[in-house]
Amino acid sequence: MPTAVINPRIRGFICTTAHPAGCAANVRTLIDLARKGSPGKGLGTVLVVGSSAGFGLASLATSLFGYGADAVGVCFERPASGDKPATAGFYNLAEMHRQATAAGRKLTTINGDAFSHAVKQQAIAALKALGKPVDLVVYSLASPKRKDPDSDTLWGSVLKPLGDAYTAKTVDLDTDQVKEITIPTASAEEKAGTIKVMGGEDWKLWIEVLSAAGVLAPTCRTVAYSYIGPKVTHPIYRAGTIGAAKDHLEATGRELNVRMAKTGGGAWVSVNKALVTQASSAIPIVPLYIALLYKVMKEKGTHEETGEQIVRLFREQLQPSKQPKLDEQGRIRVDDWEMDPGVQAEVHRRWLAVDSANLRALGDYDGFRTGFRRLFGFEVPGVDYAAPVEVSAELA
Ligand code: NAI
Repeated sequence: MPTAVINPRIRGFICTTAHPAGCAANVRTLIDLARKGSPGKGLGTVLVVGSSAGFGLASLATSLFGYGADAVGVCFERPASGDKPATAGFYNLAEMHRQATAAGRKLTTINGDAFSHAVKQQAIAALKALGKPVDLVVYSLASPKRKDPDSDTLWGSVLKPLGDAYTAKTVDLDTDQVKEITIPTASAEEKAGTIKVMGGEDWKLWIEVLSAAGVLAPTCRTVAYSYIGPKVTHPIYRAGTIGAAKDHLEATGRELNVRMAKTGGGAWVSVNKALVTQASSAIPIVPLYIALLYKVMKEKGTHEETGEQIVRLFREQLQPSKQPKLDEQGRIRVDDWEMDPGVQAEVHRRWLAVDSANLRALGDYDGFRTGFRRLFGFEVPGVDYAAPVEVSAELA
């Protein structure tokens, strides 16, 4: 069994190594949050598509340890190879499996392309093996591409404006300097590709095949995650290619809800807070906004990390005993504390003033940097990074 001392290897928003002990500690923190903030029971079987990181990982932990569910998770992660570490998501789920087994919960992970027909069928087989109908389907994919399961066309997702090219402040994650960036306008093909990858088509396909296979409880609920954010990020996010995809996702939620509500279930999109994940770190401009937002929300005592957001979402909106409170467009809003007018006014004031010299005074840039490193298991308190660790891991 190979052991190695593993150090971070970071360029921009990419880290090519991950630390198993740090990832395991992160997952135990999520599990503690889930246990403390939830009733301990209430869900039978849960499917999480995108289960290995970010909001999906937190949804899995909350289902298993906050609501006593058994679960099937779907992810796309690379195992270790020799002394080359696995991806962070792989280590996250290795620990989730260890903890689930210790707690007597059943967890099956399917590591493959969630967009493919084959993986959907594997998930159905795993759900059938659990023997109880599915109460909740969480759809939490963030992917740069999607291979069309019928035509084999490879669709790409881009983060670009749809109107004019957009120039705004951003932070260079390699040099920690605030600078201006200009992002060119997306082409029609890029917009269409982003909708194909990050819109609602695949979510709907999942619900249709699960329904046809008879594995959904009549009262099954499903949720997918979206984002709105402030005006300064609108050209790159909500009014950009990804926003067009989120519009499609939200319309799909409303369409699925009509169908699922007939038997007492429901389908919703939950608009979540901006948080440091692998997906959000890759979006230009957003990390600088997150740094300012974190500082303002921490000062006001309203900051939440991914686990806390999802625990609140389940406790107040998603668990079977709750009827979600929706906005005028039928969406759940757990971005309410982020979008609080007082928070936004202060973030905007700092946005206008921020530069390389005052970045750490006005924003929680170190919080962002640490948060980014922790996604990969680095800078996690209590972990001995000088010690060699077992590199291989299993999802069982
Ligand atoms: P993430 O990057 O942390 O996790 C993405 C997950 O998708 C991982 O489990 C990964 O293995 C899985 N995945 C990607 N491609 C796959 C494929 N082809 N097959 C199977 N699994 C695949 O992402 P994050 O940030 O948690 O995003 C999840 C959702 O939440 C996205 O829809 C995102 O837009 C949304 N969201 C994110 C916010 C943020 O600030 N991070 C804010 C609000 C919504």
